[in-house]
Amino acid sequence: MLVSASEMLQKAKAGHYAVGQFNINNLEWTKAILLTAQEMQSPVILGVSEGAGKYMCGFKTVADMVKNMIDSLKITVPVALHLDHGTYEGCYACIDAGFSSIMFDGSPYPIAENVEKTKELVKVCREKGLSLEAEVGAIGGEEDGVVGMGECADPNECKQIADLGVTMLAAGIGNIHGKYPANWPGLSFETLAAVSEKVGKMPLVLHGGTGIPEDMIKKAISLGVSKINVNTECQLSFAAAVRAYIEEGKDLVGKGFDPRKLLAPGVEAIRATVREKMELFGSVGKA
Ligand code: 13P
Repeated sequence: MLVSASEMLQKAKAGHYAVGQFNINNLEWTKAILLTAQEMQSPVILGVSEGAGKYMCGFKTVADMVKNMIDSLKITVPVALHLDHGTYEGCYACIDAGFSSIMFDGSPYPIAENVEKTKELVKVCREKGLSLEAEVGAIGGEEDGVVGMGECADPNECKQIADLGVTMLAAGIGNIHGKYPANWPGLSFETLAAVSEKVGKMPLVLHGGTGIPEDMIKKAISLGVSKINVNTECQLSFAAAVRAYIEEGKDLVGKGFDPRKLLAPGVEAIRATVREKMELFGSVGKA
């Protein structure tokens, strides 16, 4: 069932668990995540970066693929199709293409311009029934060419953006896209607690979910995080499983070169990662 992320995230916030956003890259990724969400009876958010959207032949192709897969795989759990780190133009393109949720990443703009553009998108998303994620502060690291310096959010600016009526808010709290460096100081729970206090019931989003230790994930959820984004970890597990298959020479045996066979271990590895995260986030059985 394709839905906006509003209801699933409000339930998560009230129930003290988080819904996973898993980024998709192709058909295998999408199928693996949808089937796992159904198996775990968990709500799920499929994240699409602008780069991945382009790679998959545009947002319309992605929206049609996801809708048709939900139908043909008989997926009954709530699924949101969400633009990840959208530009202003990208947001409108996804609204037109039939996404059910968008993120407007206004963090590169001065706060006044972030507020102005977010406000406009709140109105459009309300009219069309989409959920909207906004960002304050910056997520560090690089994802599909979007580079952030990792700046902790100002709680007052968070309140300003939350008050515009967005569905969920991503606040920089020392989190980074991709692998965390060995000298990473950890999440700033001080910032998270201050933001949480300012924004009240607004579900908070934790980007850079790959490699955050379990105790930090649990603490972040206890402080109001209701959506956690995972991308790199599925890519790493997929790559390791496909590498093992080829290194073991399995592609050279019989029809082992058939892409459906060659990619199957990667798909299973994504499924295992998604299962593990859903259990950690507490969303299992919450569909
Ligand atoms: P990771 O790639 O670090 O898991 O981050 C994903 C993310 O935050 C998507 O926006």
